[in-house]
Amino acid sequence: MTIDYFEDLLKKPSLFKNESTLDNNYAPKRLPHRGKELALLSQLFLELITNPNSISRKILIIGKTGIGKTVTIKLFGDMLVNAAQKRSGNIKYVHINCRKEKTSYKVLINIVRALNNNFPKRGYSPQDLLEIIVDMIKDQNLHLLIVLDELSYLIGKDDDLIYSLTRINDDSFSTLQHISIIGIARDIACLGSLDTSTMSTLQRNIIYFNNYNKEQLFEILKFRAEISLKDNIISDKLIQNIAEIVYQSGDVRYGLNLLWKSTKIAENQNLKYITIESIRLANQDIVPFSTLDILKYMSAQKIIFLLAIINSLDKYRGIHTSVREITESYIVLCESLGIQPRSHSQLWNYLQDFKREDLITMEIVSESIKGRKAQIAIQNIPISKYKEFLLEVMETKGIKI
Ligand SMILES: Nc1ncnc2c1ncn2[C@@H]1O[C@H](COP(=O)(O)OP(=O)(O)OP(=O)(O)O)[C@@H](O)[C@H]1O
Ligand SMILES: [Mg+2]
Repeated sequence: MTIDYFEDLLKKPSLFKNESTLDNNYAPKRLPHRGKELALLSQLFLELITNPNSISRKILIIGKTGIGKTVTIKLFGDMLVNAAQKRSGNIKYVHINCRKEKTSYKVLINIVRALNNNFPKRGYSPQDLLEIIVDMIKDQNLHLLIVLDELSYLIGKDDDLIYSLTRINDDSFSTLQHISIIGIARDIACLGSLDTSTMSTLQRNIIYFNNYNKEQLFEILKFRAEISLKDNIISDKLIQNIAEIVYQSGDVRYGLNLLWKSTKIAENQNLKYITIESIRLANQDIVPFSTLDILKYMSAQKIIFLLAIINSLDKYRGIHTSVREITESYIVLCESLGIQPRSHSQLWNYLQDFKREDLITMEIVSESIKGRKAQIAIQNIPISKYKEFLLEVMETKGIKI
């Protein structure tokens, strides 16, 4: 007799009330401990509700990874649109992730298509698209809030776009202000190469999102556990334990993933609730969400180089490795894949990117008279797990080792 795996699984009582509310992209309607930021944003945009198109706001949100920047701004965008609607105002909100939409063309076409879903995807230059956006906004008489999330990915390549967007109001409209912009970034330093006038426009209103403290992390995770898990599945003590683990990085995403994974592990072991051991096992097994997300959109060349770093750390078994060791393992890898290695300067750029994205740590140490040397290490993810995951991602991109 064949075993009906689905039936078997379905018979098992689930510990989840609603598993999808632990998804990375799920945006809860309530955000504990971001009330202050939401209140401040509302104050800044209030004028647009009472007096449509009277002002244009340009705001920069700065804060570390996984501390609710994106989710807070999304909630705020919806609140703003709703508040305007109630008073017959017309505000539209477009959220663009610049890591996914890496060029000005892609950013602009996304904005245009948010205004007109049927707009063809090809055939226009960025300049055309800018003009089309201005026309559409005028025709529809609306105020457009453009959110440029993960803004640092546009900088250095497309400063012009940011310049043009921040200048649209000045150039194209007489007295009315039809566009507001919120940029989101992890670090102000990565915006350094913006031209000074754009920078000074953006810098006028910076809202810093602070890291959550342990108590706040506990309350956020408790709230997320309440909406996603059945009652009495996890004790406060264990949520505190997760908060403790998460506190180091501050990344709530990691906490949510831990919560999800520990519940899965407890379910698999037919437990009625999560134990400290479920959390320990989950913690060993997780590649942080932020890392997963970055890798999904990374070019094949860069992923190959990242794998070379992992291979090098694996081979020498040290805490860190050097550029020379990494380059050796990279060349071996390229040979086995039959691809042309990238130049040294390109590889150095990759290293800088990885550092910026928190995928590696890189410390420059002085080595007696010989000069300086970079020591490269990875976050606290087991190497075998990291490698396994990288290989999976590479396979999705059509690279087989
Ligand atoms: N105050 C909060 N209450 C409930 N959930 C939260 C809160 N803050 C963050 N989260 C959750 O944590 C996760 C990470 O938040 P978010 O994606 O907004 O981080 P971020 O600051 O944009 O990070 P990154 O810089 O990596 O993009 C999301 O799943 C979000 O729902
Ligand atoms: Mg974000």
